[in-house]
Amino acid sequence: GCVAKIGPSVLDCDSSMLATEAGRALRAGADYLHLDVMDGNFVPAISFGPKVIANLRLHHPKVFFDCHLMVQKPEEQVEAFAEAKAVHPDTGKNLMQFIFHIEATEPRGLTQTVIDLVRKHGMLVGLALSPATPIEQLEPYLHQVDVVLILTVVPGKGGQSFMVDMMEKVRYVRSRYPDKEIEVDGGVKVHTVDEAAKAGANMIVSGTGVYKVDDMALAIATMKRSVEL
Ligand code: DX5
Ligand code: ZN
Repeated sequence: GCVAKIGPSVLDCDSSMLATEAGRALRAGADYLHLDVMDGNFVPAISFGPKVIANLRLHHPKVFFDCHLMVQKPEEQVEAFAEAKAVHPDTGKNLMQFIFHIEATEPRGLTQTVIDLVRKHGMLVGLALSPATPIEQLEPYLHQVDVVLILTVVPGKGGQSFMVDMMEKVRYVRSRYPDKEIEVDGGVKVHTVDEAAKAGANMIVSGTGVYKVDDMALAIATMKRSVEL
């Protein structure tokens, strides 16, 4: 059946050793990398930016980079992020996904502009939704984005609790778009991953649930086992 993919967030890894830490998760069974970009503006924290991601790409040329931009002006970042884009040499798959928050663009009427700009730069495009934002806001864009990212924590840091009532949004999208990539992000652990998978998520992010446990491979394997629908 449909198996959800597990993408560790590197936000709470030893980010001074990002390439190595990313390799550790991949060897432990991660399907892709979730890269949390924070600008200290859209969210209070600052994490890392496009230069770091372009350098990370040099170490991991065949890995899917799922970039989650928690930034106020994503339109200003598209070109720089495209530096890290790549295509898988064997499958031809696009390995660079640029997900931005609708809360940053919609008030300025820029959501469609950014979607078009990301596509023009050859990357997959997605919209992220914070917990307080109704899923209906995505209506005009759902059909055209490659992925929808449903936050199950208030964006800005790892280690928070999973907001199970956000699963309503996952069901909303899954019922309308059977084949759409739907990603859940925030507070997912081995004991909450089931909720996300049952609601219909097929890309599942876990940060501290992977990097802050004793046995990373066991955590990833456990999550993978429970999402094999
Ligand atoms: C929060 C980030 C999430 C977070 C996930 O703003 O978007 O990706 O790092 O970390 P955990 O799984 O610890 O909530
Ligand atoms: Zn994230």
